[in-house]
Amino acid sequence: MKNLKLSSLIILLTLFSYGVKAQGLKNSYEGIFDIGAAIDQRQVNGNGKDQIAHSILAKHFNSITPENLMKWGSIHPRPNTYNFEPMDKLVDLAESIGARVVGHTLVWHNQTPNWVYENEQGERLDGPALIQRMEDHITAIMSRYKGRVFAYDVVNEAIFDNGEYRTSKWYEATGTEFIKRAFAKAEEIDPDAELYYNDYNMWKPAKRETAIALAKEIREAGIRIDGIGLQGHYGLESPSLEEIEASILRIAEEGFKVMFTEVDIDVLPNPVNRHGADIDATFEFEEQYNLYTDGLPAEIQEKLVKRYAELFELFKKHEDKITRITYWGIHDGGSWLNNWPMRGRTAYPLIFDRNYQEKQDIIQVLHEIAAK
Ligand code: XIL
Repeated sequence: MKNLKLSSLIILLTLFSYGVKAQGLKNSYEGIFDIGAAIDQRQVNGNGKDQIAHSILAKHFNSITPENLMKWGSIHPRPNTYNFEPMDKLVDLAESIGARVVGHTLVWHNQTPNWVYENEQGERLDGPALIQRMEDHITAIMSRYKGRVFAYDVVNEAIFDNGEYRTSKWYEATGTEFIKRAFAKAEEIDPDAELYYNDYNMWKPAKRETAIALAKEIREAGIRIDGIGLQGHYGLESPSLEEIEASILRIAEEGFKVMFTEVDIDVLPNPVNRHGADIDATFEFEEQYNLYTDGLPAEIQEKLVKRYAELFELFKKHEDKITRITYWGIHDGGSWLNNWPMRGRTAYPLIFDRNYQEKQDIIQVLHEIAAK
């Protein structure tokens, strides 16, 4: 018995000395906020190299967002054809590890097939017809996952960076009506699910204030909206902590929950000083923007650790306002930033490396911040 205790102590000490904590991030952040990851088909299947995804998820994450599997084009590719199976599997996986699922996303201008906006003759639908289609879509999805999907990004990215409404096909046909009606339908179908508006660049005051005004309008119309999601696709230097903090404070002040829903930190340079995550803003590949094909230099890794540390210190400071931090992916190899805004680069934005190994320096610091 004594020997057994001694040997487990030695194993534990060894683990710690290698910086591998037995405890996951979700344990360290229990009661502070949920720790989430976006996963895609490959992680759900968990074959080959992706096998390890399931044990990483089980150890560190208590929230899972489908990176693509619930988007309109994936789950509802053709009229009257729903492709639920991949999403069903994701929900099964989440339940098997005790993680809550965030449904991303019901209404968006991207990854939505053209047929959605058109009648059988290929003419654009008018407002009422388009809203009917949207309501049918919301009803089908939310009825299926009632009680199993904890929350939804009901509407994604309806506002431009300058604070004006995005002139999407949704907006062209209905104005802002589609947004209110989406929340109303979502509340009706699953009254227990949390409902959010989600967008990038929410540190930009004009954009954030429009989102807040929108959320208040929805609430004043007697329709429920629980929170505002800040995607959190950030760079090493920008946005500043002050800019991020201002948004946390403003959103919370108006009585909405705050969550960081798609966190990653891009260390690669860009042809223009772009911000945010407009998935249509892409560039041709150029080698000069693909700096770190053989690994991240130590000084950049240090900057990444520091940036994650500062961000998490800020998040922790506002733990009473923030309910969840979700990474947009598990490991660098699976990050969308390898292919956006330029295809074929080597990106380093997440907290697991390309071999699914923990970036111990970052994870260690995150544990320490939780314990402060
Ligand atoms: C991205 C996915 O990560 C990619 O795999 C896909 O090709 C394009 O969409 N904002 C969002 C996410 O709300 O849904 C986007 O995800 C990234 C930007």
